[in-house]
Amino acid sequence: MCKKILITGGAGFIAHHVIDKILSTTDWEIITLDRLDFSGNLNRLKEVVSSYPESEQKRVRVIHHDLKAELNPELCATIGKVDFISHLAAGSHVDRSITYPLEFVMDNVVGTANILDYARKIDGLERFAYFSTDEVFGPAPPGIYYKENDRYNSTNPYSATKAGAEELVVAFENTYGLPAIITHTMNVFGERQNAEKYIPMVIKKVRDNELVTVHANAEKTVAGSRHYIHAEDVSNALLFLLNYDISNMSPDSTGAKCQKFNIVGKDEIDNLELAQFIAKVQNKDLNYEMVDFHSQRPGHDLRYSLDGSKMAEMGWTPKSAYEQLETTINWTLKNDRWLSI
Ligand SMILES: NC(=O)c1ccc[n+]([C@@H]2O[C@H](COP(=O)([O-])OP(=O)(O)OC[C@H]3O[C@@H](n4cnc5c(N)ncnc54)[C@H](O)[C@@H]3O)[C@@H](O)[C@H]2O)c1
Repeated sequence: MCKKILITGGAGFIAHHVIDKILSTTDWEIITLDRLDFSGNLNRLKEVVSSYPESEQKRVRVIHHDLKAELNPELCATIGKVDFISHLAAGSHVDRSITYPLEFVMDNVVGTANILDYARKIDGLERFAYFSTDEVFGPAPPGIYYKENDRYNSTNPYSATKAGAEELVVAFENTYGLPAIITHTMNVFGERQNAEKYIPMVIKKVRDNELVTVHANAEKTVAGSRHYIHAEDVSNALLFLLNYDISNMSPDSTGAKCQKFNIVGKDEIDNLELAQFIAKVQNKDLNYEMVDFHSQRPGHDLRYSLDGSKMAEMGWTPKSAYEQLETTINWTLKNDRWLSI
């Protein structure tokens, strides 16, 4: 019998790419729960799913649910038995978390507690994958690459709620034996990303000959940097982990059992290089200004960085971000309705 996966946040940017990947590479049934807020856009999912034959489209079911509420027995019966859960639903906009921290505690901590409480009661659940972020480690000084079990140091409510939710996942594995894993992913880009995010925003500004603001240090000499990774790579990594036999992986040297995995992009790219690349692909000059974003806006960090060696040793490596960036830029310019959503 084919497997069934429950994915939370399927109308969101990353999860709709994950659903696309599962549709194209497995015969699994997919159920997604989403509350469809301003960041959840069903058109994303519709655009992807409708590119498959009708028989494949039937493999995807969307259920409207806000995870701030528990999954009641009627909802559980509607979902039916599942083999995997991939929990991606979350408030994901850092600025919004600074304005509305309690909203993020409800969505990201309480929401995770509700899906965990549902998951712990499922007989035969093969894996619960919690999708977390590199931001839990806080800013990375030059030369530092955080490993999976390094200390956390949240610099904004968003990352603190993601770190808090991680600890709930760890506790549910230790307390109830939930077969859980946690991933840390860096800045993800790709088709149909929210137009407020840096890459679509720069694509649009360059196209419209507007000034691009580049976040930099206090002296405005060093641009902030990230390891950018395409959503398709992230989806591949997630599927790789759902299928990976982790039974022989032992706790770390301090006894921490829950396995965590850094999903890291190949290339560390600074914000100026990135904007220049986007301009080059469009054959345009870049009109830019370096701004001291770090000290003007609390909760934003100049550099994040993760160590990807654990996944590399397991046999998973990402593609080069530059190739995928070029494809994404060209796709976005052709499908520019996504720049105004
Ligand atoms: N985008 C990135 O670069 C990045 C990097 C690392 C980790 N992450 C994590 O990946 C996940 C997905 O990120 P994204 O960029 O696709 O976000 P997104 O904002 O595009 O999508 C989030 C989805 O979750 C849904 N959602 C939010 N709160 C909910 C709730 N209470 N109940 C039900 N649904 C709810 C929204 O409606 C939306 O569809 C998040 O957990 C985020 O923390 C994102």
